Amino acid sequence: MAVARAMTADPTLRDRFLDAMSATACTVSIVTTDGPHGRAGVTVSAMSSISADTHQPTLLVCVHHLSPAAGAILKNRAFCVNVLRDDQSAVADRFAGRVPVVDGDKFAGGAWTPMASGSPRVVDPLAAFDCQLLSHQRVGTHFVLVGAADDIFVADQGAPLVYARRAYATATPL
Ligand SMILES: Cc1cc2nc3c(=O)[nH]c(=O)nc-3n(C[C@H](O)[C@H](O)[C@H](O)COP(=O)(O)O)c2cc1C
Repeated sequence: MAVARAMTADPTLRDRFLDAMSATACTVSIVTTDGPHGRAGVTVSAMSSISADTHQPTLLVCVHHLSPAAGAILKNRAFCVNVLRDDQSAVADRFAGRVPVVDGDKFAGGAWTPMASGSPRVVDPLAAFDCQLLSHQRVGTHFVLVGAADDIFVADQGAPLVYARRAYATATPL
């Protein structure tokens, strides 16, 4: 497989890739799903717009193939991307498995409301995109999940939670 050959050719490439990626500033989102195949959620920084001019606007998220959220999204065929505010790092830590949660339930203690698809939305995110799963592709360890947004929430004001240099930050205008 091409990826495995590249890693063998230059064993430093993986570490340099991670170091370089840590220098990129990303927003932090909780990707959630709920439906017949269960409720799940995971913290991601890998989220990007694809196009506003597809039949419905499209975006992508990348979720580890072993994450329960990936399996649930693939089966429920729907997910919600909750873009967090800069005062919501505690939620990010909870869904990243960085802090213990009651009975293993990452959703406990938070305020949630269902989007049209049934996927949970943080009550007060900076933005939220409720998506139907359009397509998916496994690339190495992660699924690239493409969603078609059919409902969108956007807050009037607020700043995004940013992740850069392996730490949370906030974005201030220059
Ligand atoms: C800021 C931040 C960004 C992350 N971004 C991603 C991501 O884009 N995709 C992913 O699969 N995991 C990402 N993770 C790691 C997952 O949140 C973490 O592995 C989590 O424990 C997975 O939980 P699960 O096993 O219940 O799915 C990120 C973690 C943090 C703290």
